Amino acid sequence: MKSFDVHILNWYDKNKLLLPWRKSKDPYKIWVSEIMLQQTQVQTVVPFYNKWIKSFPTLKSVAHASDQKIFKHWEGLGYYKRAEHLRLACIQLLENYNGVIPKSKKELMLLKGIGEYTSSAISSIAFNKIHPVIDGNVRRIISRLLCLSTSVLKSDKKIMIFLKTVINKKRPGDFNQAIMELGQKICRPQNPECQLCPIATFCQSYKMDCVSEYPKKGKKKKKIPHYNIGVGIIWHKGSILITKRKKNGLLGGLWEFPGGKIYKNESIEECIKREIKEELSIEVDVADFITKVNHRYSHFSITLYAHNCYYKKGKIKCNSADDWKWISPGAFDSYPFPKANHYIFPKINHSIGAA
Ligand code: ADE
Repeated sequence: MKSFDVHILNWYDKNKLLLPWRKSKDPYKIWVSEIMLQQTQVQTVVPFYNKWIKSFPTLKSVAHASDQKIFKHWEGLGYYKRAEHLRLACIQLLENYNGVIPKSKKELMLLKGIGEYTSSAISSIAFNKIHPVIDGNVRRIISRLLCLSTSVLKSDKKIMIFLKTVINKKRPGDFNQAIMELGQKICRPQNPECQLCPIATFCQSYKMDCVSEYPKKGKKKKKIPHYNIGVGIIWHKGSILITKRKKNGLLGGLWEFPGGKIYKNESIEECIKREIKEELSIEVDVADFITKVNHRYSHFSITLYAHNCYYKKGKIKCNSADDWKWISPGAFDSYPFPKANHYIFPKINHSIGAA
């Protein structure tokens, strides 16, 4: 009987997606793809990846780019720390490694933003090193395959022991990608298509007709906090004021409309006036309501309430932002903004404040 790895690789050879990063063994390109693929679906990543590689064909080009250009290319992918770490790691590579990406997992893990998963993925896919990867798809597949009774996050040790024994030693990178793709296409969280699965004959839970019981659930994920936020679209002589978030906080380095959390018993208008005074030392008149936006980020969710505002008086000081700019309302595309702000752009009436 053919072995487990051969079944998976045969399936992969027939069914794999022709993804742009699979056309190359360039470790830089594989690294970029793996960082983008963290917490993001393959189909979402493809256009971002293509645009990125066009603008930044080498790690040197990333190291020399401004953080604003980097963020602009990441806009919409979320988890911006990934982009910042990628840039810092490219600088690290130029400064300490002559611009050459190391082959070993151990050395890869010394780079900013590269941990257990990414180092294994790069070293196996680009350099044929025998390191299994564990991501959510792999955890689910192996939990079902072996009927693992421990909760999904506690199973990694057992999963790694199993993978080390079955990984294909000649094609470790393809083996890793094959399991992940099997999880995306066949062994899905809901409605897995076991009839089509190339490893169903090895699968304990399939044999016992209890696939849906695996993986065992761990403790419920922590609830993320929700914030109500008032923001001002501040007009002055046809321009709008935007501010840059502090580098080290959440969504650090991105631009936004000034504003902040609405206090208990405070109206939206009062909040916007107060926040703008605190943040920028200027006074504004708060005018009409523009729109309300609900958005969920990785670590919190928000409801944004946007109002038109008119600059009244005061010299702008950056009390809690890194920078500020008056920009024309047509220039939003030139600055990286967090996703929630994007829903406000089309609601802004460009003729306001033109006087
Ligand atoms: N998920 C993360 N990296 C992947 C890859 N290289 N192939 C398929 N799925 C993935």
